[in-house]
Amino acid sequence: MRTRVGIIGAGPAGLTLALLLHQQGIGSMVLEARSREYVQKRVRAGLLEQNTVDLFRRLEVAERLDREGLRHSGVFLRYPGHQKHVDIEQLTDRHLTIYGQQEVVKDLIAAAIARGIDVRFEVSDVALHDFHSEQPHISFSADGLTDRVECDFIAGCDGFHGISRASLPPGATTEYDLQYPFDWLGILAEATPATNELVYSWHERGFALQSMRSSRISRLYLQVPTGQSMDDWPDERIWSELAIRLGSVNEGPIIEKGITPMRSFVCDPMRHGNLFLAGDAAHIVPPTGAKGLNLAVNDVRLLAAALGAWYDHGESGGLDRYSDTALRRVWRAQDFSNYMTNLLHDLGEGPYIQRLQLSRLDYLQRSLAAETVFAENYVGLPATDDF
Ligand code: APR
Ligand code: PHB
Repeated sequence: MRTRVGIIGAGPAGLTLALLLHQQGIGSMVLEARSREYVQKRVRAGLLEQNTVDLFRRLEVAERLDREGLRHSGVFLRYPGHQKHVDIEQLTDRHLTIYGQQEVVKDLIAAAIARGIDVRFEVSDVALHDFHSEQPHISFSADGLTDRVECDFIAGCDGFHGISRASLPPGATTEYDLQYPFDWLGILAEATPATNELVYSWHERGFALQSMRSSRISRLYLQVPTGQSMDDWPDERIWSELAIRLGSVNEGPIIEKGITPMRSFVCDPMRHGNLFLAGDAAHIVPPTGAKGLNLAVNDVRLLAAALGAWYDHGESGGLDRYSDTALRRVWRAQDFSNYMTNLLHDLGEGPYIQRLQLSRLDYLQRSLAAETVFAENYVGLPATDDF
């Protein structure tokens, strides 16, 4: 088999890339290890920057997002005795949209299949070959048979644990890594959200976040010590801890729960010959700044434009600049996600650090400059050719 761009992974990065390429008349094939049902059910974050929504609209995959997504113009920062509302839209003229990542993935898969893009689910033994040559290929197994696809370029969009980054020779990249000594326990509950916008809450017992998926479904998170299991967290304990840390919460049946580790990671460069890494395959952020999906979409926006210029008029500058350009926004998001994480979590470093955190929150209350810095980072700086 032959295609122009072989894409590994049908998450937000791989699917969006396939659709962007299709829009420019460039063929691709997507190879995904899991089943369609599995990737459509994987619950993850759900906050889309305006950049991301604008791109989905340009791709004509935003019909349901425009109908069901919740438009938010700000967020609340809560800490003992205080609640700060950051009016992001007033400060930046940009807004946010709440729409679950698995809903994004469902819409992207449906559009890709409707447009005739070749998406293969449940493939195994994916291996990347000769990506430092002009003739890379990908081998894989499907239905017990081994196959291969020859391509001009390989896009490694297979997430943090994928095979693409793992295929690089030792020493080919510099990896920047920071692990946090706590996890997030997340639940989805059939409960009306207690506020109409997100609440990020500092509490001496640890951080909590109230988010939502709809007017009837709440998405809630608690900072928990690393290494705990769901057995440590019966439903009553989750609700009582959320009530303490958030001040108040609406309870309801829990329909999904899980624990996510908190980590920051960047791999530099994101290009190796004709292999381009995008999304979680190249970088991850702790979810506090809600940047993961938005960064993945930004990477493939840049990559698709660079591939378009190459196929259109043999222009390779965009491909050459891809890694540096993508990493510029990646590092901005790394900094903001790390800042939000350090601002709001119990870092286990004692009362001096807690007082610094509270002083920073107080500064956000009092200084329009501080609030504007927060707002423009949270909502995402405008998408440009070089950022
Ligand atoms: N072969 C084929 N597919 C693979 C392989 C492999 N060896 N390894 C992983 N995959 C698939 C995964 O099953 C997954 O569907 O690659 C896909 C990667 O998707 P994501 O992990 O969603 O990564 P990405 O598309 O970069 O999106 C980033 O997802 O992890 C969240 O919070 C993160 O929102 C961010 C977004
Ligand atoms: C979510 O709704 O899942 C969500 C929102 C904001 C975050 C993280 C997760 O910072």
